[in-house]
Amino acid sequence: MTKDVIAAILERRSVRRFQPEPVPHAAVGRLIDAARWAPSAGNIQPWQFYVVYNERKKKELASAALNQRFVSEAPVVIVVCVQPEMSASRYRERGRNLYAIQDSAAAVQNILLAAHGYGLGACWVGAFDEALVMEALDLPRGLVPVAILPVGYPAEENRPPARRPVEEIVHVIE
Ligand SMILES: Cc1cc2nc3c(=O)[nH]c(=O)nc-3n(C[C@H](O)[C@H](O)[C@H](O)COP(=O)(O)O)c2cc1C
Repeated sequence: MTKDVIAAILERRSVRRFQPEPVPHAAVGRLIDAARWAPSAGNIQPWQFYVVYNERKKKELASAALNQRFVSEAPVVIVVCVQPEMSASRYRERGRNLYAIQDSAAAVQNILLAAHGYGLGACWVGAFDEALVMEALDLPRGLVPVAILPVGYPAEENRPPARRPVEEIVHVIE
């Protein structure tokens, strides 16, 4: 990792414009490795990662993502999926409805931070038609796509969007 974790947290931005250079397979492998080291409830790791280089499939993903074109413009797109029933088998409703989603969100954030650490850019795309993504990737029954992550070398540098002030979001109980 090239960046200090705090620097990566503070400097990471959503990137929606990419240079055309391909992302080396080894770099994608490092992103997946970062994802699989995310915490998960009971260490169940209910996730699956689809790494899409295929141009036609990337276009299908962009169109499933309400025509967010930058999805297909990225050299590689990682789709993070989850098997809620894996979490449900141990933790029932809470596993199915909460832990599985939280686990996959932690994996997504690890990918975004690792991408930044390796000089890549990415964006968490959550606005998509689930059924269309399932169809595009031919996902097996029980596997739910939770995030589409276009990844590439950044072709833009974005200013940090404002954050709500600390006083508005923190409640101290002494
Ligand atoms: C659950 C979730 C869904 C998101 N969906 C989209 C999306 O569909 N399209 C998009 O361009 N950005 C999407 N974003 C990125 C946010 O717009 C972005 O994180 C936010 O504006 C803050 O900017 P930053 O990531 O540069 O700090 C999503 C982020 C999250 C966490």
